[in-house]
Amino acid sequence: MANPITRLLVTALLATTGAACKAAGPDNFTGDARRGADLVKQYHCGGCHDIPGIAGAEGNVGPPLHRIGTRTYIAGYIQNSPDNMADWIEDPQRALPGNAMPRMGIPQKDARDIAAFLYTLK
Ligand code: HEC
Repeated sequence: MANPITRLLVTALLATTGAACKAAGPDNFTGDARRGADLVKQYHCGGCHDIPGIAGAEGNVGPPLHRIGTRTYIAGYIQNSPDNMADWIEDPQRALPGNAMPRMGIPQKDARDIAAFLYTLK
């Protein structure tokens, strides 16, 4: 069966995976998730995204946001963290120039509350 080296590698791999999961957690981030859910409706994110818990949010222009709070990357490029998520929402074109999500002029405070809401989607 598994020799000591294989076992060591598996242990190291598990340790690394655990660390990566922790890094994606909320850390010291603050944002009002309930207000964020209202803002998601107000800004019509659901016109382009299918978003759990938001009535009528069934858009299919961008990816569905199911379990986005536990996703490893935002838009396939950006390490998913609450801060990076807030930056993305505030200005997706600054975060990843040329991607298909438009800049919507969302103030930083609103972007942080929306990020807090998205992080409830596990
Ligand atoms: C006009 C359509 C449009 C609107 C409106 C829009 N998005 Fe997006 N969004 C996109 C597209 C397209 C992508 C995919 C970008 C990519 O992966 O390159 C995206 C990507 C994302 C992602 C990353 C998803 C992933 O799977 O990595 C998040 C999170 C997100 N949008 C949140 C929001 C929020 C919150 C709002 C409202 C404030 C919003 N979007 C409004 C089109 C839109």
